[in-house]
Amino acid sequence: MANLSLLSLLLLPLLPLSAYSERQQPYVVYFGEHSGEKTLQEIEDTHHSFLSCVKKTEEDSRGSLIYSYKNSINGFAAFLTPDEATKLSEMDEVVSVFPSQAKKWSLQTTRSWEFLGVKDRIDKSKREGLMHKARYGQDVIVGLLDSGIWPESKSFSDEGMGPVPKSWKGICQVGDAFNSSHCNRKLIGARYYLKGYEAYYGAPLNTSMDFRSPRDHDGHGSHTSSIAGGRLVHGVSALGGFAGGTVSGGAPLARLAMYKVCWPLPNKDPSEGNICIDVDMLAAMDDAIGDGVDVLSISIGSFSPVNYTNDGIAIGALHAVKRDIVVACSAGNNGPGPGTLSNVAPWIITVGASSIDRAFPSPVVLGNGVGIQGQSVAPYKLEDKMYPLVYAGDAVVPGVPKNIVGQCLPDSLSSEKVKGKIVLCLRGNGTRVGKGLEVKRAGGAAIILGNSGLNGNELTMDSYLLPGTAVGFDDAKRILDYINSTKKPMAKIVPGKSVLNAKPAPYMAGFSSTGPNVIEPNIIKPDITAPGVNILATWSEKSSPTKLLADHRSVKYNFDSGTSMSCPHVAATAALLKAIHPSWSSAAIRSAIMTTATTRNNMGKPLTNAAGTSANPFNYGSGHLDPTKAADPGLVYDASYTDYLLFLCGSSGLKGLDPAFKCPKVSPSASNLNYPSLAISKLNGTMTVNRTVTNVGGGKSVYFASIIPPLGVSVKIYPRVLSFSRVGEKKSFTITVKAKDSQVHIRDEYVFGWYIWSDGIHHVRSPMAISLA
Ligand SMILES: *[C@@H]1O[C@H](CO)[C@@H](O)[C@H](O)[C@H]1NC(C)=O
Ligand SMILES: *[C@@H]1O[C@H](CO)[C@@H](O)[C@H](O)[C@H]1NC(C)=O
Ligand SMILES: *[C@@H]1O[C@H](CO)[C@@H](O)[C@H](O)[C@H]1NC(C)=O
Ligand SMILES: *[C@@H]1O[C@H](CO)[C@@H](O)[C@H](O)[C@H]1NC(C)=O
Ligand SMILES: *[C@@H]1O[C@H](CO)[C@@H](O)[C@H](O)[C@H]1NC(C)=O
Ligand SMILES: *[C@@H]1O[C@H](CO)[C@@H](O)[C@H](O)[C@H]1NC(C)=O
Ligand SMILES: *[C@@H]1O[C@H](CO)[C@@H](O)[C@H](O)[C@H]1NC(C)=O
Repeated sequence: MANLSLLSLLLLPLLPLSAYSERQQPYVVYFGEHSGEKTLQEIEDTHHSFLSCVKKTEEDSRGSLIYSYKNSINGFAAFLTPDEATKLSEMDEVVSVFPSQAKKWSLQTTRSWEFLGVKDRIDKSKREGLMHKARYGQDVIVGLLDSGIWPESKSFSDEGMGPVPKSWKGICQVGDAFNSSHCNRKLIGARYYLKGYEAYYGAPLNTSMDFRSPRDHDGHGSHTSSIAGGRLVHGVSALGGFAGGTVSGGAPLARLAMYKVCWPLPNKDPSEGNICIDVDMLAAMDDAIGDGVDVLSISIGSFSPVNYTNDGIAIGALHAVKRDIVVACSAGNNGPGPGTLSNVAPWIITVGASSIDRAFPSPVVLGNGVGIQGQSVAPYKLEDKMYPLVYAGDAVVPGVPKNIVGQCLPDSLSSEKVKGKIVLCLRGNGTRVGKGLEVKRAGGAAIILGNSGLNGNELTMDSYLLPGTAVGFDDAKRILDYINSTKKPMAKIVPGKSVLNAKPAPYMAGFSSTGPNVIEPNIIKPDITAPGVNILATWSEKSSPTKLLADHRSVKYNFDSGTSMSCPHVAATAALLKAIHPSWSSAAIRSAIMTTATTRNNMGKPLTNAAGTSANPFNYGSGHLDPTKAADPGLVYDASYTDYLLFLCGSSGLKGLDPAFKCPKVSPSASNLNYPSLAISKLNGTMTVNRTVTNVGGGKSVYFASIIPPLGVSVKIYPRVLSFSRVGEKKSFTITVKAKDSQVHIRDEYVFGWYIWSDGIHHVRSPMAISLA
């Protein structure tokens, strides 16, 4: 998934190749909130006056400004030298100055909403369900930061929809192949942001790679938009007829607004991914807040964790959450190693990815008669006969480095040695679809893609350009052993088909980024997991199912995998909850989603990882999304904008994000934020934290606490009983956590437990993660 050539490109220091001095690069200069009534011109003039303080000439100052953020975010983006940045950061009014980050999604639906138990999605006669209660998300506005949208897709039809909500202030920005008629009562807004991208590369967008408009070239943005709010479309399937059925988004009547911020990597194959620049994303979030979105879905992550004060997404999200806009972000696709998360600010819902219960069995039969499980959605079939089988590592051209033989990287295979054969390739470097292309180029008959140890048994489906199937790590080893054991290895691949009720499901995707949260270890992240493996949804007709330049097929629907796909599932759930509970805060909605999540799979067993090991809250947060239960959580852990500012005061010496707010003399521990989960890093002896719950269930109710303490830690909750007499009533309790003296062996390791408030109907569950000093 992670693509090394992309990574190495982006780990270089960020230097624009522009006409400006080489030492200049795009920075964000951030002031917090706008204060008082100022016209847009006055705001821009103020920003200029700051720039003028560090720039030599007026012209220099005007020329270096990229964006002036004017709606809610007070700040600007400009070309600065490191010295100029330092000077600005020393000024009183300035909260932070940071170089614009480049972000991306990692390379990486019909079934996912049924799998989530949202059954009235398709059958409208079922008038009891969540969708019906939420009126399908009608009049909730979901904004997405992504690669644009394919407006002609039936998923974005506005047939039968009422007028655009009166509160909406957004626009339909005209550009290449996109005019005002491309917005409708479904897609109510569309904008695009290119200035940061063009500044970053010092060159204009290559218009043969993308549209200078909100139109989606890549496919990613159309995919995420349709998962969140696509209409019901019947008779949809992927190439080859896989996963046929009806597709629809989670909130099929919600309004969508696309903020296009992600663009192609210049001179790279589109299959290698996209890039999204912080200064563009801040401009988009500032507009989305001004336009009046209710929910923001951001399937974009950084390569490595970034401090809140230096993170455009975190800053934009804080401004959004202040206005009770729910912000859901993907956790990242850098798993399964520890500490690989992005988007960890506590005002964001951070979403991991897990599987659904649909599989595409396509087994391999070896020459010795042994059958090996495989899965495939390749739209091409082999003849029903045995083919010669070769391991790619035994069929490379001279000069391929030893450590990457077997990986089928471009131009690595010898046509002579693979012609007409089934080729076993291993994952590692390079894209999955790129490996298929290499086998095809060299004249192979089919590909078997074998997982590496890190991928375990999780099989990600791609629409290859030739027949093929994917096998897990252990099975790849078995095929290798067989190849080694015989002079004339042979095999055949049975064509794939879709089956439902695969078990176990869900399990955590191997690519899903995991905790601990390295920016603030006293908050558990991710918050939740949702479907993100092999999701079928809308695609750009300008792209191909593999995104490879060499692939000329065009599709309306396609599979994709990643935390990019799980994030809009949570955004859609938030939209449904907003429709049912319009007065709930962003924190209340997050709490409802987290405390009702499940930690069991469809076999009734605890959730596992792709490799089969047991999963924990650093993999799945509070558990797997259950939208129906989230609508009726019983109690919620609420938090206000001020609570987040207090949290920032206490969070490991970080400077606050709002200059108008003064931290108290003694700041509370970050663990004390009223969060629906609890993390204590380096517990020394005993610690007590406060929590407050708000009754949102029935009027009169009595809740009892139960505790599953982490190994080696004692946990006490006081009081153990909370009685409520009305809706909206708040009650506080304390949690006291004490390390048992004998447990020195768990030092530097996290141990996990749970506490649950229950009134017999609602079970309000919170995970705990504790490490000892
Ligand atoms: C927008 O473009 C479409 C073609 O894609 C065209 O049919 C339509 O008339 C245009 N609308 C406007 C307002 O220009
Ligand atoms: C633009 O992209 C196309 C297709 O990738 C490529 O052939 C062309 O050389 C690019 N143009 C420039 C100016 O980079
Ligand atoms: C975050 O900020 C802290 C304190 O300013 C600093 O020590 C740390 O290196 C920063 N971490 C990152 C990832 O930028
Ligand atoms: C990827 O390629 C790099 C450079 O050749 C190499 O160091 C690394 O080990 C490779 N990774 C895998 C997983 O093969
Ligand atoms: C195949 O056999 C050779 C020689 O016995 C051995 O060196 C190699 O490690 C084996 N490869 C695998 C994948 O088992
Ligand atoms: C918890 O709440 C109590 C009562 O409001 C207060 O006295 C105490 O200082 C709080 N503790 C912390 C750690 O914030
Ligand atoms: C734990 O707290 C005690 C008493 O406050 C202190 O002396 C000790 O240094 C602390 N240990 C660590 C590892 O922080």
